[in-house]
Amino acid sequence: MASLAQSPTRPPYSMVKITQGNTRVAQNIYDNDQFFANYSSLPRSRDGLAAAPEWPALQAFLPPVPGARVLDLGCGFGWFARWAIEAGAANVLGIDISANMLARALELTESDAITYRQGDLESLAMDEPPFDLVYSSLAFHYIEDFGKLARGMAEWLRPGGRLVFSVEHPIFTAPSTQEFIEGPDGRPAWPLNRYLDEGPRVTAWLAPGVVKYHRTIGTYVRDLVAAGLVVRDIVEWAPSPEAITEHPEWGENRERPPFLLVAADRP
Ligand SMILES: C[S@@+](CC[C@H](N)C(=O)[O-])C[C@H]1O[C@@H](n2cnc3c(N)ncnc32)[C@H](O)[C@@H]1O
Repeated sequence: MASLAQSPTRPPYSMVKITQGNTRVAQNIYDNDQFFANYSSLPRSRDGLAAAPEWPALQAFLPPVPGARVLDLGCGFGWFARWAIEAGAANVLGIDISANMLARALELTESDAITYRQGDLESLAMDEPPFDLVYSSLAFHYIEDFGKLARGMAEWLRPGGRLVFSVEHPIFTAPSTQEFIEGPDGRPAWPLNRYLDEGPRVTAWLAPGVVKYHRTIGTYVRDLVAAGLVVRDIVEWAPSPEAITEHPEWGENRERPPFLLVAADRP
């Protein structure tokens, strides 16, 4: 059985950032009942990587996985952790702030090479030996201080190790209102504003009061470089026209990329 390494008990999480002494505690929206019920019914929550259309592009960024020590930040239900073990990884440590997500991950996981730990990426301390791969899918746009996290990730990787992550694309996270409108030509249009105004955006995705942090592509790259990492590749991912023929419901995502995928190396 996979194990759950519990962090010290925390107070209940609020809908917004709260402070304990001088330490900021991140929002934990995945432990909100309404949000968790809606998130659990999404295709990618039920069917995992096979239902994540950007997965093949993210997978193409991975280094060889056999034998690798892997850290999965914001691991959610553990879909990637289980894939990595099946692909031959030596072990995976999955970190997530949400007790709900980790409880489901444990239910779905049989391998004892996977450990799940409750932790906040805003203030994560790590005393494990360095990892070959640090991976994260769609979690870093919940993090306010990406520069600090980037410095942490650079430390947690061994020299020659790789960071691979996806986030909601900055064009997606920037606007005051994150919904398509009808453009003058009748096509869906994404009302991009506030691109250079970095910081929190409160959205109503799956529940009211969901806080995500917008930052520009420039800031993502600059923070990684300042942490000593070398950016290898960036994909502004959107479904291909062929994929949209098969899944017409993804069509609007050709109007603006929903995800940014990044690979970086620790030299
Ligand atoms: C969209 S889900 C992605 C889950 C998983 N990586 C996947 O792709 O299936 C985002 C995950 O990030 C976690 N998360 C958000 N903020 C976090 C934080 N400050 N520290 C740790 N995990 C966080 C959430 O609890 C949630 O499980």
